[in-house]
Parts: sequence; C-alpha cells; structure tokens
Amino acid sequence: MSALHGKTALVTGAGRGIGRAIALDLARAGADVIVNYSRSQEQADEVAAQIEAMDRRAWSVQADVSRKADIDRMFDRVEADFGSIAVLVNNAGIEPRADVCDFDEATYDAVMATNLKGAFFCAQRALRKMRDAGWGRVINVSSLHELTPTGFSALYGMSKGGMALMMREMAKSYSRYGITINNVCPGATRTDINRKVLSDPAYEAKVIAKIPAGFIAEPEDIAPAVTFLASDAARYITGASIFIDGGLWL
Ligand SMILES: NC(=O)c1ccc[n+]([C@@H]2O[C@H](COP(=O)([O-])OP(=O)(O)OC[C@H]3O[C@@H](n4cnc5c(N)ncnc54)[C@H](OP(=O)(O)O)[C@@H]3O)[C@@H](O)[C@H]2O)c1
Repeated sequence: MSALHGKTALVTGAGRGIGRAIALDLARAGADVIVNYSRSQEQADEVAAQIEAMDRRAWSVQADVSRKADIDRMFDRVEADFGSIAVLVNNAGIEPRADVCDFDEATYDAVMATNLKGAFFCAQRALRKMRDAGWGRVINVSSLHELTPTGFSALYGMSKGGMALMMREMAKSYSRYGITINNVCPGATRTDINRKVLSDPAYEAKVIAKIPAGFIAEPEDIAPAVTFLASDAARYITGASIFIDGGLWL
C-alpha cells in the first residue's frame, strides 16, 4: 500500500510552483489532496484534475491565507466534506524585493500575514484535530533564508526566520501527540517567484556560481522531502529544518 494511502493532505498555494509539485508528489504517494489557491483558480483546478486522474480524491479550494477568516472558512468546509487533515503543508508565500528603507507598511503587513500569520493559523486549525487523532504532520515550506539574510528582501527573511521558531515552538509542544512538525528550506528554485530576476542571464549566472551543486533546483527537487516527512518512515524527525539548496547556505 502507498505510504500515504487514506490520508488527506492540504497544501496551501498549490496551484503553481513548489506547492503544485508537492501536491502531485503527495498524491503519487497515495494521499487525497486539498489544493488551496488564492488567485490561480484555473491552475489549481488543473492540479486537482491531475490528482483525480491518479484515482485520489482532490478538491481545489480558494482561501487567502493572509486572512484568518478565509482560513477558518476553508477548514470548516474541508472538515465537513473530507474529515480532518492528516498532513498540512504551509507553502503559500510572497517575496517582494526592495531596499530596507523603501518597504512600506502595506508590504510589511502582506509579507508577514501571508508567510507567517497564515502558516500559524492553518497549523493551529490542523493541530487541534491532529492532537485528537494522535497522528499528524505539519510541514512548512520555509527557505534557506530562515537562517541567512537575503540581501534583497529583509521582510521575506524576517518572515522565514519567524517560521523557524514557530515550527520549533509547535514541535516542542505538540510532538508528544504523535505529530511531527518540520520545515523544508529550499534554496534557489525556478518558479514565478524569481522568474523575472532569473531571466537576466548575468544575474542567473551569479546565483549559480554561489551554489555548490552548480544548478538551480526545479520544484520537483523539493517535493520528495515533503512526502518523506509526511510518511511514517519520518516519525522520529520533528523540530528539524531540512535544507534542500544544493549547498547554497554553506
Ligand atoms: N522559488 C524559490 O527559489 C524558493 C526558495 C525558498 C523558499 N521558497 C518558498 O516556497 C514557497 C512557494 O513559492 P514558489 O517558489 O512556488 O513561488 P510561486 O510560484 O510564486 O508560488 C507562490 C504560491 O503561493 C500562493 N500564495 C501567495 N499568496 C497567497 C495567499 N495570500 N493565500 C494563498 N496562497 C497564496 C500562490 O497562490 P495564487 O497564485 O493562487 O495566489 C502560489 O501558489 C514560498 O513559501 C516561498 O517562500 C521558494
């Protein structure tokens, strides 16, 4: 039997990029998958259709994770129709780039609300049910910048630094309930988040030169670690940040 057969996973921001690859990989491992999106409905519907084609249950559901009311509406509907979530993947994120002195309040609020507050309140909803069930997985898509500054988006680095301690706080309090809580920390990965900057060949070459592995990852390089952390094989891994960055942090 597949490792995640009979388990329902919710992946935020799963219509495109790393979230999409994670949703498809979890389904390949047997999970039914809730495909959350905020704006990319068509792409999320397509991901759900691909998952259904694997004979899994899938549902694309709109919720802006920067709003707690949206998170509650999503979890209320999902729990009514699918039952509780066994695997939560907090993937949704934004990365506006600017000089420290140029960020405005609206951007500050948007980054913190999407990258950190959204992950916290999704985890809070999921953990309550996981605690009752005595089994659960919370996996946050953080970044190597939870450890090292970006130099191009202080707000992003601050939000991911917060995610590192959020994960450890939750792991310390909730691992006793059969729940594991971990971060995966991608390095440079080709998605829409960096498409514009990487389209400049000189900038791309500069990034690649810093990566010991010598290349930029694809979303499919990140997803298998999430599927592993979701499985029973990873039951003793909790409170960990796993760097999937080709050695970029070194
Ligand atoms: N690509 C990299 O190099 C890299 C490196 C380290 C970490 N990461 C992390 O990986 C995660 C995914 O990023 P990505 O590279 O795949 O970027 P992406 O292609 O730009 O995708 C971002 C995803 O986040 C979703 N999202 C944004 N705001 C949202 C909101 N308020 N509510 C719900 N969903 C929202 C988007 O959904 P909609 O389109 O529906 O709005 C989209 O699916 C992020 O947390 C990012 O920080 C990426």
